[in-house]
Amino acid sequence: MSDRSVSTLNKPDAALELTLRPSLFSDFTGQPKVKERLEISIEAARQRKESLDHILLSGPPGLGKTTIANILAKAMGGNLKSTSGPTIEKAADLAGLLTNLEEGDVLFIDEIHRLQKTIEEYLYPAMEDFKLDIIIDQGPNARSVRLNLPRFTLIGATTRSGLLSAPLLTRFGMRERLDYYCAEDLQKIVVRSANLLNVEIEPSGAHEIARRSRGTPRIANNLLRRVRDYAQVRHDGRITAEVADKALAMLEIDQNGLDEMDKRILEAVIVKFGGGPVGVNSLAVAVGEEPDTIEEVYEPYLIMEGYLSRTSQGRIATELSYKKLGLKAAINRQSGLL
Ligand SMILES: Nc1ncnc2c1ncn2[C@@H]1O[C@H](COP(=O)(O)OP(=O)(O)O)[C@@H](O)[C@H]1O
Ligand SMILES: [Mg+2]
Repeated sequence: MSDRSVSTLNKPDAALELTLRPSLFSDFTGQPKVKERLEISIEAARQRKESLDHILLSGPPGLGKTTIANILAKAMGGNLKSTSGPTIEKAADLAGLLTNLEEGDVLFIDEIHRLQKTIEEYLYPAMEDFKLDIIIDQGPNARSVRLNLPRFTLIGATTRSGLLSAPLLTRFGMRERLDYYCAEDLQKIVVRSANLLNVEIEPSGAHEIARRSRGTPRIANNLLRRVRDYAQVRHDGRITAEVADKALAMLEIDQNGLDEMDKRILEAVIVKFGGGPVGVNSLAVAVGEEPDTIEEVYEPYLIMEGYLSRTSQGRIATELSYKKLGLKAAINRQSGLL
């Protein structure tokens, strides 16, 4: 896999994220509606001295789900215990996590859509009544014991809320979807990160990185780091618009922020599948990428930006995709033949 693809540029880097992750809503840029609703809920819960309602955060990777979970736990004065859907293999794993919680703690389950159904069922009474029914012993001695749990808050994060079962979905008091960030908000994030990393950056340099970051803070931060290296080695360290542009061109991030894989996807839809419609599995084979990654990482941005549209038969390339790949002539010729 190329190191210029979204899946690489959107990979969490533990050390970097620790430095750059905002820990307060006041440092969290963008997503104003989500932020306001969450801030109101926190304030209300604090005034009533209650725990916060369970919250589901959904949206593509790198938009701030984990960040928000951390901010919420901190604002409520509780601890954050983190786990993820695929790591919980047995009901006992979940029981262990739940029984170790204290009043007001946040249990964060990342990739909650990948939780096994059998384990999910243990969550229902835990979320609803703060009770856990566990079976002890086996065979004829097996019996169910009901444990009381402290009042905790479950925060689930998912890139695919559509895969969550209805009973699980309804147990979240709040469901918030994060959207891609506008360039203006991303620019603020880049400037803040540059300050934290002690990088000199001009507003126009930050803007250049921001508008080519696929609406994603994590990508913006990762690109900032790569542009910083370029500025340091090839220039005097200062990130201007020109330096950012040269660095991004070197990384093969195009003027619209699309990378190699994005273009390979568009090209496959147009050239191999005649513009579509094409299903995600065929597309995945054609470009050599996992179907899940296409669906969760690449496609949402391409759809939002108007390069692809999704129909019940599959993905279709739009006019914009043809233009992007310089294939406008081909489409005209084709329609001329019809
Ligand atoms: N609204 C924001 N303001 C500033 N930085 C952000 C924001 N959202 C995300 N980030 C940065 O992007 C990185 C990725 O965010 P994260 O919460 O891990 O995304 P997700 O969990 O949705 O994949 C974080 O480390 C943080 O530095
Ligand atoms: Mg995360």
